[in-house]
Amino acid sequence: MYSQGLIGADTQTHETPEFLEAFQAKIDSEQKIEANDPMPQAYRNTLIRMISQHAHSEIVGMLPEGNWITRAPTLRRKVALLAKVQDEGGHGLYLYSAAETLGVSREQLTDELLSGKAKYSSIFNYPTPTWADIGAIGWLVDGAAIMNQVPLCRCSYGPYARAMIRVCKEESFHQRQGYELITSLMQGNDQQQAMAQDALNRWWWPSLMMFGPSDTDSQHSDQSMAWKIKRFTNDELRQKFVDATVPQAELIGLTLPDPDLRWNDTKNGEGGYDFGEIDWDEFWRVVKGHGMMNKDRLAARRKAHADGAWVREAALAHAARHATPDVALAS
Ligand code: 3HC
Repeated sequence: MYSQGLIGADTQTHETPEFLEAFQAKIDSEQKIEANDPMPQAYRNTLIRMISQHAHSEIVGMLPEGNWITRAPTLRRKVALLAKVQDEGGHGLYLYSAAETLGVSREQLTDELLSGKAKYSSIFNYPTPTWADIGAIGWLVDGAAIMNQVPLCRCSYGPYARAMIRVCKEESFHQRQGYELITSLMQGNDQQQAMAQDALNRWWWPSLMMFGPSDTDSQHSDQSMAWKIKRFTNDELRQKFVDATVPQAELIGLTLPDPDLRWNDTKNGEGGYDFGEIDWDEFWRVVKGHGMMNKDRLAARRKAHADGAWVREAALAHAARHATPDVALAS
C-alpha cells in the first residue's frame, strides 16, 4: 500500500525469517521501534494506516464542534470550545508528523482524505443540531478517545507513543468540560434536561462504534496486538468505556438509550455491564461514506484545502527564495 519509508532501508529484501523473528523478539521485550529502525513493511503500513486515519479524525473532528463556536451560550463556554477545537488541530499536526516519520508525505495523506480514499472516525459523520451535542461530544466522544488513546501511549512505535502522551493530557480537559456542560444542563430546566437526554440518545451508540468492529470482525486487531501497537482489543476497550461511562450518566439523572443495559456481577470476573447489540449495518454504512454528514465533512475539508492553497504556495515560495543553494556555501 505504501512504498518503502524515506527513512530506513528497503525492507522487502531483508525480510528473512530470521529478521522477522528478531523484530518480534524486540517487540516482545518491550523495546520501542524508532523511525530509523528496520521494520517489516507490513508493520510500517499498519502504522501509516492507523496514524493517518487518527490524524484525519482529529482534523475532521474539528468540524462538528466548530459549528457551535460562534453560538456558544456564554463567553466561558466559547473559550473552552475554542481551546478544544484548537487542541484537535494540534493533535492532527502531531499525528501527521508521526506518520511522516514512516516515510509517507502529508500531501499524500491529505490527498487520500480529500479523495475519500482514507477513513476517519465514523463518529464525526453525525450532525450537531443542539448545544447539548457539544457536551455529549466532549463527554462521550473524547471519553471514548481517551479510552482508546491511553493504551496507545504504550504503542511499540516510539513516535506514535510519544505523540499520544500530550494528546491524552489534552483529551482529559476535553472530556471534563463536556461532562460539566451536560451536568449543568441536567441541573437546568425541563427543556435543558430534555436537550441533554436527546443528545445522549443520539451519541451513545455511535460512541460505542468508535472502538471499531467486534473482535470477531476486526481484521487488523490480532496482528496489531501481536506487534503491541494495540494493547487491548476493540471489545475490551468498548467494555471499559461502557463500565466507566454508565455511572457518570446515572449520577446526573440521564437514562442510557439501551434497554438491555444491566450490571452483571460475574462479567469478566470483576463485574461489568451487559449491553445491547450494536447496529453494525449503521456502522458500516457510515464507515463506507453514507452517514448523515459524510458528504458535508469532505466538502468542508476540500473547500478549506482549496481556500488555503495560497498560504501553502506563499510558504513554499518563501522557503525556495531563502533556501541557501549548496553551491553558494561551497564557493
Ligand atoms: N470509523 C471508521 N473506520 C473504522 C472505525 C471507525 N470508528 N473502526 C474501525 N474502522 C475501520 C478500520 O480503519 C479498518 O479499515 P481499514 O483497514 O480500511 O483501515 C476496518 O474498519 C476494520 O477495523 P479494525 O478493527 O480491523 O481496524 P483497527 O485494528 O485499525 O481498529 C481503531 C480500529 C480502533 C479505530 C484503530 O484503528 C485505532 O485505535 N486507531 C487509533 C485511534 C483512533 O484513530 N481513534 C479514532 C478517534 S480519534 C478522536 O476521536 C479524536 C478525539 O480528539 C475526539
